[in-house]
Amino acid sequence: MRKLTITLAAVAAVGATAGVYAATEDVGLPANYRQAMANYTVVDRTDNGQVRVLYGPQAAIDAVRAGRPAPSGTTLIMEIYTAQRNAQNELVRGADGRLQRGALANIFVMEKRTGWGSQYPAELRNGEWEYAIFTPAMQRAENRNMQPCMTCHLQRRDADFVFSTAAMAQAR
Ligand code: HEC
Repeated sequence: MRKLTITLAAVAAVGATAGVYAATEDVGLPANYRQAMANYTVVDRTDNGQVRVLYGPQAAIDAVRAGRPAPSGTTLIMEIYTAQRNAQNELVRGADGRLQRGALANIFVMEKRTGWGSQYPAELRNGEWEYAIFTPAMQRAENRNMQPCMTCHLQRRDADFVFSTAAMAQAR
């Protein structure tokens, strides 16, 4: 926690370029998330050649479906796969028309706990959410700047900073 405070003091002092590095230490990746959580959607990203596989706890999906924010303690997980390409470097589609998963590149995680957000400057704060990246081997990726995550997810401040709320609402 002390390290986080120091990093954020640096952000406040020198502006947006300093970055947010320490926040990632708070966020965990539940080892059994593939079994314990709902795989509520898969997003084909033809723009950047990725397949994104999203997981969340049923309690969070139920809350969003009921129009409430996900509860404190919620972890949302997005596996990022490089989409398969053919010899012409074109994205390959399966019989179902979907992109095909290649290698798992990164695991993006966001987790919220009451109190976590209070350490961020107002212009960066994402409610109570913090962000982290894990490797395909589920190891924490150290010294990554989480500020771009927060800046982009700010667009969704009216939806508790979550992009995939529509998919959650439609998930069975
Ligand atoms: C340029 C905007 C942008 C940035 C930067 C960004 N995200 Fe996201 N994020 C999205 C979008 C859009 C989605 C929904 C999936 C999709 O359409 O690709 C998403 C989805 C997610 C989800 C699933 C829950 C949700 O909000 O739908 C997690 C977890 C996540 N992002 C974590 C991260 C982390 C960690 C970082 C930084 C390492 C990050 N994101 C950076 C735009 C962004």
